[in-house]
Amino acid sequence: MEHRFLVVEAAKHVGEKVKVQGWVNVRRAHGKILFIDLRDISGIMQVVFVPSNKEVYDLAQNLRPEWVVEITGQIVKRPDQMVNEKIDTGKVELSAEGLKVLSESETLPLSIEKDGYEIGEETRMKYRYLDLRRERMKNNLIVRHKFFQFVRDFLSKEGFVEVETPMLTKSTPEGSRDFIVPSRLQPGKFYALPQSPQQYKQLLMAAGLEKYFQIAKCLRDEDMRGDRQFEHTQIDMELSFVNREDVMELNERMIITIVKKLFPEKKIQEIPFPKISYKEAMEKYNSDKPDIRKDKKDKNLLAFCWVVDFPFFEKDDEGKWTFTHNPFSAPKPEFMQDLLDKKNIGNILTTQYDITLNGSEIGGGSIRNYRPEALEAVFEIMGHKKEDIKEKFGHMLQAFSFGTPPHGGIAYGSDRFLQILLGEINIREVIAFPKTGDGRDLMMDAPSEISKKQLEELHIKIAKKPKKTFK
Ligand code: AMO
Repeated sequence: MEHRFLVVEAAKHVGEKVKVQGWVNVRRAHGKILFIDLRDISGIMQVVFVPSNKEVYDLAQNLRPEWVVEITGQIVKRPDQMVNEKIDTGKVELSAEGLKVLSESETLPLSIEKDGYEIGEETRMKYRYLDLRRERMKNNLIVRHKFFQFVRDFLSKEGFVEVETPMLTKSTPEGSRDFIVPSRLQPGKFYALPQSPQQYKQLLMAAGLEKYFQIAKCLRDEDMRGDRQFEHTQIDMELSFVNREDVMELNERMIITIVKKLFPEKKIQEIPFPKISYKEAMEKYNSDKPDIRKDKKDKNLLAFCWVVDFPFFEKDDEGKWTFTHNPFSAPKPEFMQDLLDKKNIGNILTTQYDITLNGSEIGGGSIRNYRPEALEAVFEIMGHKKEDIKEKFGHMLQAFSFGTPPHGGIAYGSDRFLQILLGEINIREVIAFPKTGDGRDLMMDAPSEISKKQLEELHIKIAKKPKKTFK
């Protein structure tokens, strides 16, 4: 009887002796009989302690919620009128013969019985490891795991190779602020954490990988919202020798299969996914991520939509041209000459395609600009000087000068996608350890000050001691 059964498995062994381990979910007494609901990763099982087994019964009297215990005993059928249809193990119970307390628990600072939406963020985040004990959160993490497992499988079968790209890298123009890491060995120099693996994945195409993907952590220092975090996880991919339609076809197939396999209760509004131009989206929906659901009350309706034909450039606050999505995108072929000539700039359309779901942008990508002179033109339009372009993007231009295949790709905001699939109102509900709205990890107490020695090693002087805002 050394083998440990998960409670849902144990329930199938009626008449047999089993050993289970888990948490005391609830304890209750009916007359002299003592019941506990034992919880483990698989579910909950009722355990019965009777006074005739005195030693174990007396020990069980002490049990409190969230104590961790090991129980041995026999699985017995419950009388018909006691069957609980609501739980998987509801037809049986465990008649306890042995009990070991593995760990006691203080009273929890938050309740884990319900879905937890009613509990304040501060408490949930400070005790995140307890918050994750609730069924809803545990389920979200399990679905998240299945989602990525599915994607890995799907893309591997399509011939993709998963490659990890560095976290310590150079500032990339993904349109947001970088998180910066000081270098100890190169005083005064800094790494940037990747806003996305954009340049590396294109360099992998130059390397001849042909089909790359990665479940990639991306870091952006931008204001947080209900669907935005400092750290998010992208399903990132890049393919060689493809056009826009190839990328869209593969991705549509992947998404449809994910929904069918993992979310069979959901209904996709329209297949193939409708494609609308940026212009039409703005005119009809006044949004570049239109919510095209026919019935917004239906929580199981998924309305995917491709948005295409975005302008390549727009004017920034200072009146200078900047890219709307990605400087590495190619223009649509009919605008290539205008790009090279740097004329009709405002009219140039990009090959960018965004994918939206129920009014949220869940992903985006493009066919890339793999001609060095065309990529240079993009940076020149944005006002970069030749030396500047060489310093910042010389490695890309050089790579493209050694025989680079035409390529394109896409990346999904997986957290955002999961948030919608799971019907959650906040991105934090699908991330194990997210940051609060003001960017803190209350459980680890980060960000925090570092020691004088660490600062010295990094050649950093704090110019002005900041006001203590927290704690
Ligand atoms: P983009 O910047 O559009 O493209 O990012 C891709 C998708 O990532 C999600 N996303 C975020 N999710 C949560 N929190 C954030 N702060 C956040 N920022 C972005 C969005 C978005 O659609 N390298 C390109 C992709 C490519 O061209 O292949 C890129 O990163 O859902």
